[in-house]
Amino acid sequence: MAVSEVMPQTSPVSAMTPAEQTPILELRHLHRWFTKGRQRIPVIQDINLSIQPNEILCLVGESGCGKTTTGKMMVGLLEASQGEILIEGRNRQSYKGKEKSLLRRELQIIHQDPFASLNPAHTVEQILSFPLVKHKLVKNRAELRKRIWDLLTLVELTPAADIVGKYPHQLSGGQRQRVSIARTLSVQPRLIVADEAVSMVDVSIRIGILKTLLDLRSRLGLAIVFITHDLALAKYFAWEGRIAVMYLGRIVEIGSTRDIIANPAHPYTRALLSAVPEADPLITRRKKPLVLRSEDIPKLTDIPPGCAFHPRCPFFQPGQCDRELPVLSPPPGFVQEVACIPLQGDGTLTPYVE
Ligand SMILES: Nc1ncnc2c1ncn2[C@@H]1O[C@H](COP(=O)(O)OP(=O)(O)O)[C@@H](O)[C@H]1O
Ligand SMILES: [Mg+2]
Repeated sequence: MAVSEVMPQTSPVSAMTPAEQTPILELRHLHRWFTKGRQRIPVIQDINLSIQPNEILCLVGESGCGKTTTGKMMVGLLEASQGEILIEGRNRQSYKGKEKSLLRRELQIIHQDPFASLNPAHTVEQILSFPLVKHKLVKNRAELRKRIWDLLTLVELTPAADIVGKYPHQLSGGQRQRVSIARTLSVQPRLIVADEAVSMVDVSIRIGILKTLLDLRSRLGLAIVFITHDLALAKYFAWEGRIAVMYLGRIVEIGSTRDIIANPAHPYTRALLSAVPEADPLITRRKKPLVLRSEDIPKLTDIPPGCAFHPRCPFFQPGQCDRELPVLSPPPGFVQEVACIPLQGDGTLTPYVE
């Protein structure tokens, strides 16, 4: 089956290097806060990111660091409190009418729990028909049927005849997530935010779903923002792309996955990586687990001054880390951008002694 039948490409995958293209999505000085009474709770602070067509970017960080909030703002499910979101170089706000609804189609999110996002009273056929009919992507019943068949084949749910009549509860977790991916693909998105999309699925079938997503990305020219708290998954999934490590609403390290995995720079990234239990030659090379000074994640209502990681950091430098806000830049000896003041000095870190 030709992929183009299922997914007419809105933009050809260009031979240009990513840097020469207009990013499909750009976040500029993005902030998001929530208010609680009179208090302003900052969830996202000054995030800057750009995503190229066909690129894969992984957002990694502990639960509560703002990954989902960022993902929702990316696809327009949540308003930014401050800052700009550009889509193909144009401010999101400038999209009106038809263009705006096209945008809603082109930027999609896959949620963590496929059970919650699939209507239990609808069959797979009904679930997949709805967006196709709503967005007038098919002309008649025969075309609809064929498109559904093709989509199921695309996400490797075969034979399709066995699947179309089933209700979500009659499917396994992995199959449900594949239905959810098929539904997302049905509207021909150009960017997909996969928010912990495989974390509820059995470990044994995770890799299969990830492989399917990766394969679809290269065949369809999709940009994927892959959100996970698991650096091992990030490494696997975004090997060809970039990783952005988040801590308390900010990006603390960003660069190519290869650079970050081979040579993690920020103490937080080093700690995340040293905690990866996986028997992985690249990762276990760093045998000694990095012991943090505290396991407690500060509350958003009480974010530490300076570098927010300093109370936990084993390389804390008093008078520096607790006073100055670090900005992202490549420290000596590193390719990736890192927000760490001591590291930006001479590229080395000195353990903190009480
Ligand atoms: N509507 C809201 N009101 C107040 N706080 C919120 C709201 N939504 C999210 N938060 C808070 O923002 C923080 C980041 O949430 P989230 O983006 O879901 O993080 P992650 O996906 O990384 O686990 C959490 O502390 C969460 O409690
Ligand atoms: Mg989340």
